[in-house]
Amino acid sequence: MVAPPAALCDLPRMSQFQDKVVVVTGSGRGIGKEIARAFVARGAKVAIASRTEANSNATAEELNAMGPGTAKGYAVDIANHDATVEFGKQVAADLGAVSILVNNAGVTRDGLALRMSEEDWDTVLDTNLKGAFNAVKAFQRTLLKAEDARIINISSVIGLMGNAGQCNYAASKAGLIGFTKALAKEFAGRKVCVNAIAPGFIVTDMTDELTPEMQEGIKKTIPLGTFGEVEDIANAVIFLAGKEARYITGQVLTVDGGMVM
Ligand SMILES: NC(=O)c1ccc[n+]([C@@H]2O[C@H](COP(=O)([O-])OP(=O)(O)OC[C@H]3O[C@@H](n4cnc5c(N)ncnc54)[C@H](O)[C@@H]3O)[C@@H](O)[C@H]2O)c1
Repeated sequence: MVAPPAALCDLPRMSQFQDKVVVVTGSGRGIGKEIARAFVARGAKVAIASRTEANSNATAEELNAMGPGTAKGYAVDIANHDATVEFGKQVAADLGAVSILVNNAGVTRDGLALRMSEEDWDTVLDTNLKGAFNAVKAFQRTLLKAEDARIINISSVIGLMGNAGQCNYAASKAGLIGFTKALAKEFAGRKVCVNAIAPGFIVTDMTDELTPEMQEGIKKTIPLGTFGEVEDIANAVIFLAGKEARYITGQVLTVDGGMVM
């Protein structure tokens, strides 16, 4: 006997990200890894990019064990323009045309401006700001041709409000917001939405570097009273990457427990 056709409601719900090619920079650990995990969980093909091959491959392996999407590890220094363009070619050859780019790679080299070295200034600006430009250059052709393409830049509340001891980081993250808005205007004609997320304090290796006293002091400035989790940022990325956000571009979404309002 021939089985009757399955009712629509019996079919597994296909994720809108199924087989989409997604690049997440700085996804060997922390927030980037969780963003990558969220896309793999929805069936996407995800390029895991971090500085070290061992980290990227270990993360890709971990995410592949989880499925249903796939992850592939890449080692790239996003601050290096030529290396990033090469990385773009490799991703296109391995996974296909990219339609979602998440610029997440970031570093800190904190210190008061009076004492900050040129090297610490350059490292932070080259990674956090120029790195995003480099990645856009590497993927712009396919992004401009893709349907429902998205660029999501991970900025920071520090880029909105400044912070003593972080003039390099604040400048890079504020710059990323300006970059987001200019690019949103340039790419709008091709329906590519470009937005930024400004996380507050999220529990990762970056915040683990703060002393317990500093952490307690910061929590007093957060209306919701606690640090956020990596999932809070990944959820915001998934929203902005999805069809539900098709009419949102050039915006900064703060995910910060109410620090900046
Ligand atoms: N953790 C927070 O509280 C917080 C708050 C606001 C914004 N952010 C931003 O979120 C992003 C992720 O932060 P995180 O806390 O997960 O940091 P993290 O230090 O845990 O991870 C950063 C990732 O970026 C990668 N990376 C650094 N330099 C790179 C380079 N030159 N090329 C390629 N990859 C590079 C690292 O290898 C790592 O995988 C960063 O842009 C950070 O500025 C974090």
